[in-house]
Amino acid sequence: MKVTSKMSAYRAKILHFTQQPNIQEASGYDYFEDGVLVIENGLVKAVGDAKTLEKSGFDLAVCEYFPEHLIMPGFIDSHIHYPQTNVIASYGEQLLDWLNNYTFPNEEKFADKAFALQAAEQFIQLMLENGTTTAMVYTTVFATSTDAFFEVAEKHGLRMIAGKVLMDRNVPLALQDTPETARSESQLLIDKWHNKDRLKYVITPRFAPTSTPAQLAAAGELYQQNPGVYMQTHLSENTQEIEWIKALYPKAKNYLDVYDQHQLLGNKSVFGHGIHLSDSEIQRLAETGSQIAFCPTSNLFLGSGLLDLKKLEQAGVCVSIATDIGGGTSFSLLKTLAEAYKILQLQGQSLHPLKGLYMATLGNAKALDLDDKIGNFAIGKEADFTLINLSPTAIQASRQAQANSLDDTLFALMMLGDEHNIERTYSMGNLMFERQPASTGNKQ
Ligand code: GUN
Ligand code: ZN
Repeated sequence: MKVTSKMSAYRAKILHFTQQPNIQEASGYDYFEDGVLVIENGLVKAVGDAKTLEKSGFDLAVCEYFPEHLIMPGFIDSHIHYPQTNVIASYGEQLLDWLNNYTFPNEEKFADKAFALQAAEQFIQLMLENGTTTAMVYTTVFATSTDAFFEVAEKHGLRMIAGKVLMDRNVPLALQDTPETARSESQLLIDKWHNKDRLKYVITPRFAPTSTPAQLAAAGELYQQNPGVYMQTHLSENTQEIEWIKALYPKAKNYLDVYDQHQLLGNKSVFGHGIHLSDSEIQRLAETGSQIAFCPTSNLFLGSGLLDLKKLEQAGVCVSIATDIGGGTSFSLLKTLAEAYKILQLQGQSLHPLKGLYMATLGNAKALDLDDKIGNFAIGKEADFTLINLSPTAIQASRQAQANSLDDTLFALMMLGDEHNIERTYSMGNLMFERQPASTGNKQ
């Protein structure tokens, strides 16, 4: 391969997935202890073993060299709320009170475009600091807040999916739209943003309690009439929420059936949580290709419950991994995977680090139907990646010094890692974030 001035190259440990990993057979991924990633025009040009590339004529001297670091594809977050950055860590409530007492009052501020723009900027910086390069994002009921998010994402050249929240009852008046404005404003936003640069649109009825049947019907029509757009909402997160659904939709067979009746299921539908599902709901999710976004830190923080990953996967339901900021307590998908591991441990299940890191990259790309563009370093894919320091803290350095295999190294990273491990984040080959050395503080 001839090196040109348009190329950039990075030499480090490199891990990426080619399919869902088979742990017993150690297949489904490529790991290069001394690897090279070559980028040209924002796309992956080559990836491989350094010495092998050198033999084929590649000049290793052009690489930026990080012998102790790990390069991985950028993380992907399948469920997150940009207006909830500063709702994070709000004390002492479960879902419905938490929404009323903290979330809704905060979302009212997003009627102001200038406020929404600076919040979107802060949110995107936080994602990049955590190695996350793509997310499926809830905005607020205000279409201007959706515009604000897309404008900032477009400015940074990021691949993002977002949508205006639809809610026309059971929320403060200032946050209510109507079935008609839900339809007209969403359609305008779809026409404006869907497939513009790297952006895509997701129709976003918040959850069934905050939409009338007429509004869910409008959401279903939008979903059916706009091929390629996504649908996201919440499902079966909290037991009080489920009781409320029974009162609001007495004719529905179950919670999922409310969405089903309004044509909201399908292989571009992402349902947040899905903790307390009946067997028939799980079967219906599987047969429609609808997905669950597993949000471990949120499920623990809000006391919502433990997701039974094994049961969902054995039934054929695709499960992605997500932070659910601000119900979730960290932007870090590493931290999120650590909490997922603990949730599964409580149920006699486990999460192998290769499976976890697959979920956070290629698995989520597949779940969001973006795996032709992102998720691994296949030649021609968009070069979104992160440079990971395996030993940014004393305990990680000491633990990693003991690691005796790749699995062990990755498990310690998954269990102990967070934003401090993320040293750089790149999008389309452009450096978007670089961690500064920790300040030593002021001497008194
Ligand atoms: N259900 C409806 N809205 C929300 C939200 O903002 N966060 C969470 N975790 N659950 C919800
Ligand atoms: Zn959520």
